[in-house]
Amino acid sequence: MSFTLRPGPRTAMWAKLNEHAARLSATPVRDLFARDPSRYAQFSRERAGLLMDFSRQRLDAPALAALLQLADAVGLGERREAMWKGEHINGTEDRAVLHVALRQPAGAGIGGAAIEKLVMDERTRMLGFAEGVRGGTIRGSTGQPFRCVVNIGIGGSDLGPAMAVQALRAYTQGAPRCEFVSNVDGCRLAEVLETADPATTLFIVASKTFTTLETQTNAQTARAWLAGRLGTAAVPKHFAAVSVNHQAMDAFGVHPEYRFQMWDWVGGRYSVWSSIGVALAVAIGARNFEAFLGGGHEVDEHFRLSPWGDNLPALMGLIGVWNINFMHLPTLAVLPYDDSLRRFPAYLQQLEMESNGKSVMLDGTPVECETESVIWGEPGNNAQHSFFQLLHQGTQRAALDFLLPARSSCGNQAQQNLAIASCLAQAQAFMAGQSAEVVREELRQQKLPPERIEALIPHKIDPGSRPSTIVLFRQTDPATLGRLIALYEHSVFTQSVVWGINAFDQWGVELGKKLTAQLVPAVEDPRGQHGASPGVQQLLGVVERWRG
Ligand code: F6P
Repeated sequence: MSFTLRPGPRTAMWAKLNEHAARLSATPVRDLFARDPSRYAQFSRERAGLLMDFSRQRLDAPALAALLQLADAVGLGERREAMWKGEHINGTEDRAVLHVALRQPAGAGIGGAAIEKLVMDERTRMLGFAEGVRGGTIRGSTGQPFRCVVNIGIGGSDLGPAMAVQALRAYTQGAPRCEFVSNVDGCRLAEVLETADPATTLFIVASKTFTTLETQTNAQTARAWLAGRLGTAAVPKHFAAVSVNHQAMDAFGVHPEYRFQMWDWVGGRYSVWSSIGVALAVAIGARNFEAFLGGGHEVDEHFRLSPWGDNLPALMGLIGVWNINFMHLPTLAVLPYDDSLRRFPAYLQQLEMESNGKSVMLDGTPVECETESVIWGEPGNNAQHSFFQLLHQGTQRAALDFLLPARSSCGNQAQQNLAIASCLAQAQAFMAGQSAEVVREELRQQKLPPERIEALIPHKIDPGSRPSTIVLFRQTDPATLGRLIALYEHSVFTQSVVWGINAFDQWGVELGKKLTAQLVPAVEDPRGQHGASPGVQQLLGVVERWRG
């Protein structure tokens, strides 16, 4: 891969953006608001069912214009087209990247006619199965309907469906309970099995490769549990699977009608839209799952067709570049003001950090600038009462994304109004801060002695200018959740193009997998023949002593 413009600090664009950054770093954001009454209108956009207010970012019109030019200079439009056309933009794995094909409506032809047909056929099969499980026409080996669906998967085969089932709880009435099991220690599985009735439990083994240690281990444990209670012959009626690996599904004994296909052109962390979302489809039903896909497709079309200055995912990605590379903020806190979105930050951690946690460019040379920031977060009100102190007054600074629904997810609008007030208050406080003069006046009103006032002032000053974006939406419903995920997916893509990196491979996680496989025999039998290093052997000695 050669670059028309090698992104990074050596370019004139970068130098220009650095000049804007130097100028703006000396300007409190509250002054930008004071100078320009139209700031909200200039730095907010309502598109595709979402409102993005980025007026509290440390940006002005010339800096934003330079960021938009950067998108053109790095060829964002060409890369976007290449993705849509199914070119192998995931070069290190020689694969197309077509998650956008998964959420297309019939007739859209995304990925070409053959891929569209594959997607539509598989979607119909998967949704038919999900409805059958949901409605009780597909039953277990004893003839009883399923009351519990256990998704066994990890990473992209867990985080998306688990987050979405939680987020859309309000749409799950009448559905079997959906549980998610991912970790290899087996504790979560044990917890789920404690209250599960084998006759009414369906396991879904979700694994693109069907080789992942955690998933395979939990799936084997679940199968043994079921076979031990209902007999081996019952297993095929209680196990569905989603994978590209048919051989492995054969070996596991998955019935052909209970297995669903995915393709190597769907990355794990982009796969919730595929049959990997079958647990979500069981939970919310086919119509709502289609609405979820529809929301994603709406943002796809918006991203594909809108000029950068009006394009929410591109703007979000470019603002991220601004904060990471020019404001030097190494972390982004994601703060939903809706408890049902409590797994959204964890979902975004994989989407963003597994995608863009890279330090070489597409041509294998080292990047010359920072790439992905650390993503973290919690529901906003919880965060206020734990780590917001550091964000307000600590020495480490972070960028912030507030996710804010106008309507309650659980029908309690009075309490959602308090969440809205909390979110807007925090965004304002992070932006405006609190000056010494304001603190002094407040303490005077409280009739404190002057020396006490002066002693307290340094502790109560809040510097402000902590940059934040508010993403406001009507409600956490299926279509909106689809829009939100697609918004972040294309923002991640935008950033990867600016940095000239591959957002679709994940070689870094492979080393740990390889070493784990080598170490399993050593952990099982520390005194046996194995190649564990001396340092590891020391630890294994202690493990052996303590595990009894
Ligand atoms: O953690 C690495 C990874 O390969 C992720 O990209 C993926 O989502 C996860 O493991 C699970 O993989 P699989 O779906 O193949 O079990």
